[in-house]
Amino acid sequence: MPDQIWLQNYPIHFAGCDFDARMTVVRISEKELLIHSPCEIDADTKSAISALGDVVYIVAPGTYHHLWVPSAQAAFPNAVTYICPGVERKRPELDFDWILGDRPPDAWADTFDQVLVRGNKLIWEVAFYHKPSKTLLLTDLIENFTDSTPNVNWVLMLWWKVVFRMWNHPKPAPEYQMGWKDKSAARKSLLKILDWDFDKIIIAHGDLIESNAREMAMKAWKKPLSAPEEQRQRGAA
Ligand SMILES: [Fe+2]
Repeated sequence: MPDQIWLQNYPIHFAGCDFDARMTVVRISEKELLIHSPCEIDADTKSAISALGDVVYIVAPGTYHHLWVPSAQAAFPNAVTYICPGVERKRPELDFDWILGDRPPDAWADTFDQVLVRGNKLIWEVAFYHKPSKTLLLTDLIENFTDSTPNVNWVLMLWWKVVFRMWNHPKPAPEYQMGWKDKSAARKSLLKILDWDFDKIIIAHGDLIESNAREMAMKAWKKPLSAPEEQRQRGAA
């Protein structure tokens, strides 16, 4: 959708792994922009974004997506900062205005719906649905590293292929897979997301999902989605 969403990849170095993350800039109104999962905002990035409109919201959408919020705040000091619950505990020094929940603030309710993904002990995020373009906007709830993904080093490739088995198989980030605590709560959140009429998915790591989006999401979330049934079966045995 032209003039509505802009993407910017930026490098991450984490536990020996090199890969890219993705910042998303979204137009909220004629002149207003929201930055989702900001990268470091250097002078060039600042002027590129400023040419699009005024940044009025900075969003740290997940408990692993807040690193460059201070850089965005310094570049756009009038913006209001929203964080995913849990970020305030991980980054107690971080300035913020509001904590995100299941209901979109009135200011962007025409543009986005949102859901806090519950049920995990290691990682939280707020999933967004961009209504005008039918796009699901996630951070780590699906990773999609494939043979076509650029800027990935051998360490990441080894772990994702051999240990996590999620190379060419979109799945939630390893923290999700190791941290499901209340799969019933997770399932409830994921079903809310699947209620949205999305046909593509912007994710923070790996290739964008531009076809078969719903099928890919359901396959990626198979474990938490099937949890209540498994629990019932165990109870009956
Ligand atoms: Fe991430």
